[in-house]
Amino acid sequence: MSFDDAAHGGPLKPLLVDNERAVALKREAVDLPSWFLTANQVCDLELLLNGSFSPLSGYLDSKDLESIYENVRLADGTVWPIPITLGVNPEFVKEQGLREGARVALRHPEGMVLAVLTISEVYEPDRIREAEAVFGTADDGHPGVFDLLHYGHAMRLAGPVEGVELPPHHHFLHLRQTPTRLRELFRNTGSEKVLAFQTRNPMHRAHVAMVTRAAEQVGADILVHPVVGATTVGDVDAVTRIRCYQSVLKYLPERTRVSLLPLAMRMAGPREAVWHAIIRRNHGCTHFVIGRDHAGPKHRKTGEPLYGMYDAQELVARFADELGIQPVPMEEVVYSKSAKAYRAASEVTDASDILRLSGTELRRRLRQGADIPDWFSFPEVLATLRKRYPARNKQGFTVFFTGLPSSGKSTLAAILEARLMEVQDRPITLLDGDIVRKNLSSELNFSKEHRDLNILRIGFVAKQITKNGGVALCAPIAPYAVVRRKVRDAVAEDGGFLLVHVSTPLDVCEARDRKGLYAKARKGILKGFTGVDDPYEAPDDADLVIDTSQHTAQEAVEIILKELDRERYIELKATDEEFPRGLEAEAHI
Ligand code: PPS
Repeated sequence: MSFDDAAHGGPLKPLLVDNERAVALKREAVDLPSWFLTANQVCDLELLLNGSFSPLSGYLDSKDLESIYENVRLADGTVWPIPITLGVNPEFVKEQGLREGARVALRHPEGMVLAVLTISEVYEPDRIREAEAVFGTADDGHPGVFDLLHYGHAMRLAGPVEGVELPPHHHFLHLRQTPTRLRELFRNTGSEKVLAFQTRNPMHRAHVAMVTRAAEQVGADILVHPVVGATTVGDVDAVTRIRCYQSVLKYLPERTRVSLLPLAMRMAGPREAVWHAIIRRNHGCTHFVIGRDHAGPKHRKTGEPLYGMYDAQELVARFADELGIQPVPMEEVVYSKSAKAYRAASEVTDASDILRLSGTELRRRLRQGADIPDWFSFPEVLATLRKRYPARNKQGFTVFFTGLPSSGKSTLAAILEARLMEVQDRPITLLDGDIVRKNLSSELNFSKEHRDLNILRIGFVAKQITKNGGVALCAPIAPYAVVRRKVRDAVAEDGGFLLVHVSTPLDVCEARDRKGLYAKARKGILKGFTGVDDPYEAPDDADLVIDTSQHTAQEAVEIILKELDRERYIELKATDEEFPRGLEAEAHI
């Protein structure tokens, strides 16, 4: 048996043109409107161009979308679960006068023309409807919904694309195979049956046990096919994972290959699983493992899984006959103490015989440098993870203050800076609201758009500082919840993040009015002033809430230091913890 080229939309359809046409397109692109793709859009385009998304010939229109929402099929009836669309700003559409028939150069963020799109439709999607249909919810606690609603663009361009070149990659080139290349490799090495394993996590012993079992069951070679485009918040970065996959190869059957898939995951659970199966079919695989909770995220606030454990297996089974790839549903595997081996959960009837270690517990142990048992993972994988995630006292971190004007953010940040200098060695950078406004954001006003941009810039700088092992103390108003969350997500990839809500009540802030701005705002001289005639969205995800009308500034800072100590970013000694006597006079806020 080898893969069935007639199934699911027919033969592979890469969208790259020949050299001569590519030269002509590049020349034409000089005079075309240019859309600079986001990182996730680069992933989508790469998979469109290299044939991973066959039979798609470009970005989908509203008719296809409607059919996908309703039937998990394109308008022509082919099974397709996920909208592949090109989102753009309404201003871009307007400024360039884009409509049907217009052509747009699609550029890599670094400027290269990757493809030219011929527009068949310009439309405004109903993103709430899309969230409900594709993700089963419009709650932005679902990370895929968050991306769709808060990173997605308001307008979309549909139409066929002509590919000029694939996006460049610079690392692990020997592990990056296009569908055409993988099919060729399987053919040349006599791999008649290939079972693909999708993952966005490092592989531990349970994964190896499951995929080995699945491959034995169907008598296939294995393709470990990890996603190395965007995954989801909190996942281990791709480079670290790739190192783990390489070291795990020796624990897998001999005929196992690793190849990297630059996919931007949507975390859409069951629909995502159908999509993953189609993509693997396009890469020449004949079988596809689907374990428990495939591509299922947890709710950001409640931590609850967003899909049923086996929902993905059920949806894929529904379309199995049309996908051109055989799903291999696998039960959860668990470690049996008595057998000293992994077994299917249903085979271990005595619950006390099972050993488990959750992802959260694994992260906690990594963070604290605590022991991780040998039955759970491989020494090489753990060594790689420990290098990437040193104990917290060796990581950088950001303390991000948010609160009304005159709530005390700047004072707390300044005292915290001084105290941190006393009790730890990392270099500290203070990004105070007013100072940033004079430097980094000097051209910005106080509209919502500019406030968000200001916070994103502060977040960008804080991320770099944190990544390089320093401490960033940020003290802007940051009145909007969504952008605060974007900053948290970005910084937390590289170290610690502590959100401190300085919750001093408005009347106290106004009575302080250190700069006289509340007075001006009340008189109507200053418009759009936070707390007076501009909104402040109080966080519901603050790590600490401190009301400076209830504490002196020094007390407030000691609370923050204790939290940093509790979370192990710093180690307070008994003498450090003492309230600094001699400074008892209440600091002026
Ligand atoms: S934001 O919303 O986070 O971008 O604001 P931020 O950059 O922190 O604001 C810094 C200081 O600008 C002063 N200021 C205003 N604040 C709010 N609204 C309006 N319209 C405004 N105009 C000027 C204000 O003093 C902020 O300082 P803090 O430290 O909060 O008092």
